[in-house]
Order: sequence, then structure tokens, then C-alpha cells
Amino acid sequence: MSKEIVVSGVRPTGRQHLGNYFGAVVNFVKMQEICDGYFFVADYHSLTTHPKAADLKSNIKQIVVEYLACGLDPNKCTLYLQSDLPQIPELYLIFNMFSYVGELEREATFKEKVREQPDNVNAGLLTYPVLMAVDIIIHKAVKVPVGKDQQQHLEMTRDFVRRFNNLYGVEYFPEPQAFNFGDTLVSIPSLDGEGKMSKSKGEQTCIYLSDEPEAIRKKIMRAVTDAGPQAPNSVKPLVIQNIFDLMKLVSAPETIQFFDEKYNDCTIRYGDLKKQLAEDMVKFVSPIGEKIKELNTNDKMLSEIIGDGGTKARASAAQTIKDVREIIGIKSF
Ligand code: TYM
Repeated sequence: MSKEIVVSGVRPTGRQHLGNYFGAVVNFVKMQEICDGYFFVADYHSLTTHPKAADLKSNIKQIVVEYLACGLDPNKCTLYLQSDLPQIPELYLIFNMFSYVGELEREATFKEKVREQPDNVNAGLLTYPVLMAVDIIIHKAVKVPVGKDQQQHLEMTRDFVRRFNNLYGVEYFPEPQAFNFGDTLVSIPSLDGEGKMSKSKGEQTCIYLSDEPEAIRKKIMRAVTDAGPQAPNSVKPLVIQNIFDLMKLVSAPETIQFFDEKYNDCTIRYGDLKKQLAEDMVKFVSPIGEKIKELNTNDKMLSEIIGDGGTKARASAAQTIKDVREIIGIKSF
């Protein structure tokens, strides 16, 4: 039986943090064992913010290095750069015809970007979900491991696919589903106690996979807390729940239970809670950080991996483009 096809990617906008890891990459690593995985660096996507060429170049390398340091194995999955597939822009052009300006303008991330960067509301930002859909369907993926913030993009991908299949009376593209090994898609909280961990909120609010132990300790000790529980067994306010949620990612169940009990009987000291979290976090992140340093010096190996991955991904993408051209009637005589 053929394996399920899985596709996902990360934008090269800087170092990856715990959100990227637990929302996406940890799932890629598990899925490469059982699925036909295509994992890429979404370099075209990052152009919406007009990065400097040198920064983009080093950020692309950073993502590849981090993928490998987290455990992606080029012998078990296909690792490539989005821009190494000329079929992506071709299918993107075609799918722009099946996406409507109204639905693109209503998309939550687009509306957020319009608010955040009113001077740079470019067309690429508007059609971002089309490009993302194309990344997924170019390999006819059925599962897409992503964090909760990408849910709407996946819904739109299914809309585009359904529209295409209906219009041409085919069942060519499967409808892909967002995926996480847990029960639901996850959103890893920011250290500032508000919303999800995100590069755009600043260095101090994220734990990066390449952070040095001292940086991790400092950031966690500075994480926002409150005055402490005022009555036994009270519901944890969001900022405290966030710290417990981070603990669930890296600490032993007994540790969490210990601090839960302390919270419930109002004897908790947040300094101790954060110290414990910091140590468990360092233990978890440091081995990945060490591998990142090691791999960073091996450009030859990195370029071979990306070269081979590109070749494999292009072969899969070429088949899809050939079929699509036939389905829509663009076919040479
Ligand atoms: P990006 O680069 O913003 O993030 C990469 C992955 O990390 C997840 N993520 C999080 N998950 C949980 N909690 C968080 N705090 C958190 N922060 C980030 C994201 O959900 C994502 O899975 N549009 C995508 C890149 C992309 C893509 C694709 C993904 C382009 N084409 C095709 C899947 C399939 C993005 O901007 O991710």
C-alpha cells in the first residue's frame, strides 16, 4: 500500500522557536517514519516582507540546519527549497484563477497584515493562501502538519481544491487536512503571557532552538506572572496557565503535579516554578542547539541534501503539472 503524502514548510524569517517545533517540526520528524513526507523551506512566502538578500540567504540555511538538527532525515523524507520547484509558480498562476479577491480579503492573516503594515499591502500578501495551497497540492498531500494559526489556510486550500475538482469534473486533488499527533492543533504561548509565541513579538518572548542555556534561563525567569493564587483551587489566570503549558512540553508529569498541588494549596513560589521550567527547558533545547552549531559548518553536505531533495520534489511536481495541464486543456499537440 502506498504511504500517505504529507507536506509542510516553514518560512525563513529567522531562527525557529518552540512554537515552530511543537506546532510543526516535531510532527514532521514522526511522520517521516510512516508517511511520504515533503518538507520544505517556504522562501517565496518570506518575500512579502522584502528581506535583504543576505538575510534571506542565511535564514534559508538556518531552517535547513534546524530541520536536520531536529531529526529530519533526508533518507526518510524529501527536504527542499520551495524556490527550487519551477512548477510552484506555474500552479500558483493557474490557481489564482480559482481564488476570489473577496475571500482572500476576508482571510484573518491578511486583515492582520493590513493593520500591521499598511505601507506594504502587496498582491503577494493577498494571494499568500493560494501559494500555500499550491505548496500542498503540488504533491497531492492529504495531511499537513501545522500549528493552529494555519487552520484557516488549510480550509481555504480545501475550498480551492473542491472548486477545481468540481469545475473540471475530476477527483484529481485530495482535500488535505491540517494535522497534529495530539488531539488538536496546538498554539504554543508567548513568554509575555499574551497570545502565541511568534518571531514578530520580539526575541525576549520566544525560546529559540538555538538559544544558549543562559538566554533560556533569563527569558523564562522574566516571564510574566501575577501576585499568586488568592484562594485554594482557583482557576489559573492565562499568564500562569501559559507557564504550566510550557512545562507540559518539557517537564516530567510528577514535576507538573508537584507545582499544580502547590498552586492549589496557595503555597506556590513562582520563582521556583520558573527555575524548574528553565532547567527542564535547557535540558530539552540544548542538544538541538548543539546539533545546530555542528551542522552549520557543513555547507557541502547541506547543499547536497537540498540538491537531491529538489530533484525528488521536482519529479513529483512535474507529474502534477503534466496532469493539470491536461485536465484544464493546456496541452501541446
Ligand atoms: P510559519 O513559518 O509562520 O511557521 C511554521 C510552522 O510553525 C507553526 N507555528 C506554531 N505552532 C504552534 N504555536 C506557535 N506559537 C507557532 N508559531 C508557528 C506554524 O503553524 C507552522 O506550521 N504559511 C506557513 C508556511 C507555509 C506552509 C506551506 C505550511 C507555506 N506553505 C504549506 C504548510 C504547508 C507559515 O507562515 O508558517
